Amino acid sequence: MTDAQTAAERIAQLRSDLDAHNYRYYVLDEPSVPDAEYDRLFRSLQALEAEHPELVTPDSPTQRVGGAASSAFGVVRHEIPMLSLGNAFEEDDLREFDRRVREGLDLPAGSEAAYSCEPKLDGLAVSLLYENGHLVRGATRGDGSTGEDISANVRTIRNVPLKLRSEGWPEVLEVRGEVYMSKAGFERLNAAQAEAGGKTFANPRNAAAGSLRQLDPKITAGRPLEFCCYGIGRVPAPLAATHTASLERLKDWGLPISRELRRVQGAEACLDYYRDIGARRASLAYEIDGVVFKVNDIGQQRELGFRAREPRWAIAHKFPASEELTELLDVEFQVGRTGAVTPVARLKPVQVAGVTVSNATLHNMDEVARLGVMIGDTVIIRRAGDVIPQVMQVVTERRPADARPVQVPTHCPVCGSDVERTQLVKRSKGRESFSEGAVYRCVGRLACQAQLKQAIIHFVSRRAMDIEGLGDKIVEQLVDKGLVKSPADLYTLTYDDVFALEGFAEVSSNNLLASIASSKRPTLARFIFALGIPDVGEETAKLLARTLGSLERIERALPEVLTYLPDVGAEVAYEIHNFFEAEHNREVIAQLRANGVELQDEGELHAEFAACASLAALIDKLNIPFVAATGAKKLAEKAAGRATGAAGIAEVKALAGDWLDLSTTKGLNERARQSIRDWFAVADHARRAEAIEAQLRDFGMHWQSERKTAEGLPLAGQTWVLTGTLEAMSRDVAKDRLEALGAKVAGSVSARTTCVVAGPGAGSKLAKAEELGLRVLDEAAFLDALRGYGVTVDPA
Ligand code: IVH
Repeated sequence: MTDAQTAAERIAQLRSDLDAHNYRYYVLDEPSVPDAEYDRLFRSLQALEAEHPELVTPDSPTQRVGGAASSAFGVVRHEIPMLSLGNAFEEDDLREFDRRVREGLDLPAGSEAAYSCEPKLDGLAVSLLYENGHLVRGATRGDGSTGEDISANVRTIRNVPLKLRSEGWPEVLEVRGEVYMSKAGFERLNAAQAEAGGKTFANPRNAAAGSLRQLDPKITAGRPLEFCCYGIGRVPAPLAATHTASLERLKDWGLPISRELRRVQGAEACLDYYRDIGARRASLAYEIDGVVFKVNDIGQQRELGFRAREPRWAIAHKFPASEELTELLDVEFQVGRTGAVTPVARLKPVQVAGVTVSNATLHNMDEVARLGVMIGDTVIIRRAGDVIPQVMQVVTERRPADARPVQVPTHCPVCGSDVERTQLVKRSKGRESFSEGAVYRCVGRLACQAQLKQAIIHFVSRRAMDIEGLGDKIVEQLVDKGLVKSPADLYTLTYDDVFALEGFAEVSSNNLLASIASSKRPTLARFIFALGIPDVGEETAKLLARTLGSLERIERALPEVLTYLPDVGAEVAYEIHNFFEAEHNREVIAQLRANGVELQDEGELHAEFAACASLAALIDKLNIPFVAATGAKKLAEKAAGRATGAAGIAEVKALAGDWLDLSTTKGLNERARQSIRDWFAVADHARRAEAIEAQLRDFGMHWQSERKTAEGLPLAGQTWVLTGTLEAMSRDVAKDRLEALGAKVAGSVSARTTCVVAGPGAGSKLAKAEELGLRVLDEAAFLDALRGYGVTVDPA
């Protein structure tokens, strides 16, 4: 056996393995190997083919993208025209269709026609031509008689077989089907396009169309297109007696067909199918606009024939459209919790997928600009599932002469304060750049009723101060009556105040006052979250509480110091810092304390935080132009070499002023060195650096040899899991307590879990813990353990 023969055999084996895996993955939907194994086989084949280019064939799995971009698509004539379908919108339209079918076939009274049922995929009709089992051409539907040659593009679609499998296929086989994009593929593509500053698509159908009509097949290859076969074009002889049996044969040959394909008897069963798919529409992986019913018997199809360009034997039963046209009557602006002024479209009411829509979100002014929408425009509205309706597109051709641009109000529509555009501050590679943000904000803060209401609603919410019984409507009344002008005022409400509210009697008034009173001892994390600092969610609040340990430290932390915390970037750091700098926020906090709010768990700086500072990291945070992380490290090392004790900013500053020594610092180029000299020569810069350093020291942070290990909290490094129901406390409280002790609370049990707390009703997590031999505590033992750490839990 020669070398080439062995290679040829191995290539053949690899191709057949890959084809078999593809078939199982795309057609049977039963993957046989992990992706990594598939990739490994694929790369082996690529390598072998690279060594033996003479053995490369066009239908090798490696040859999906071949050839260069073309300047235009060729023309393809469809020998058998690609027809369209008649539509049924109402159930009775379908019954009428069925009546015509039975009449046309002259079926005896009482007997039913057999139908195939398939989803109507929302993509593009495509014809694929196989000769001797090889894909030789792909074409669009075009006008039904002539389409475009998109062979190079269809070859890139992963589930289109380049070569038919098994045997028995006719010499010439033309199949037809839909090229579409899954919902997930569409989301991924749009996200990637947006990231790269490219064009985004309004819906999966447009994305599929745009991707298929690319002159460069390499672009198509990068798009998540899929194919589903629903019919047969040119064949020398029928493949089977029925449509469903024909599709099953195509499936055996490796062509993907719908998993939802069914065969039923009669119109009522068709309607059942329609309702069933309709109910599952939102959870399907792809978009459909209806279902298609076809008389299943091929002989009967022939008998019925065609009327104009539609078969008499098939019909599309459409779902109510999820997109409609309507008019944009006006754009109003709503004010949110953080003062963001957001545009909302007021629409001429229109039925979309069975619901009257008169408002739609426009997100922000960037979105308004992207859409290019003007008041008076005709717009496409889309409503998918229970998502808020969205404005998808403007029909510019229908723009009236008196269309008006959308303008952000200069004053808040609720309180009349100024509206300002947010600035985005970007700090990178030593430069600080400002750009206009997409968000506009009312500067009124709590003086703005809209912001005040939202702020209070957030403050009292379950994950914040958790004041039970204080719903949105009550908050609105309290604010409207002027009883509450800041969250602090909740704690001075009297019985008479509450009793006077709509819907309150004696017992309910007392209950509300009691639940307000019982919220007076929040954890630091809950309190921080409740303040509603822009960009500070529950996780960030917990992080701030856990690491900095006290409100006082959080309040005065410099933004650079905050960025030492994991996952806190410059923007969030500035939001936090600016929040506590603002006088009115300080006043609210002081008032809350004066009204009896007492933080429960303030303490020391966490060891995890104390140990994370390094001089290099500090230099990096100074944003000295041309000094990135490695440069900062070099500078820190050199400064450390000059110091007798621990080096700090003073040593770096001295180094910056020492021309010779800085010039001989390795790892810094001249531009960086000059930049360091210039930077430290500015008195404000040096002062800022010293202030940050002083704060780090003051907070008990230290670097180099002083690094301590995390001796901080008793449960540091441990992972706990809570399962089942707890009686003495909610799971949220249990989680809070554990986290306060330094433990991580995870959602699932693994070998790394330290301990599992199992209440009544615990199931698989408990079983797994026992199987792994982990420590398991019931609630009583858990409470004991907490008490052991000095933590008590108020009875729930
Ligand atoms: S059958 C003669 N089956 O709907 C029958 N079409 O309005 C021709 N479509 O151009 C089509 N899913 O793009 C058929 N399961 C399906 C379909 C389907 C989607 C599209 C196809 C066609 C259009 C007809």
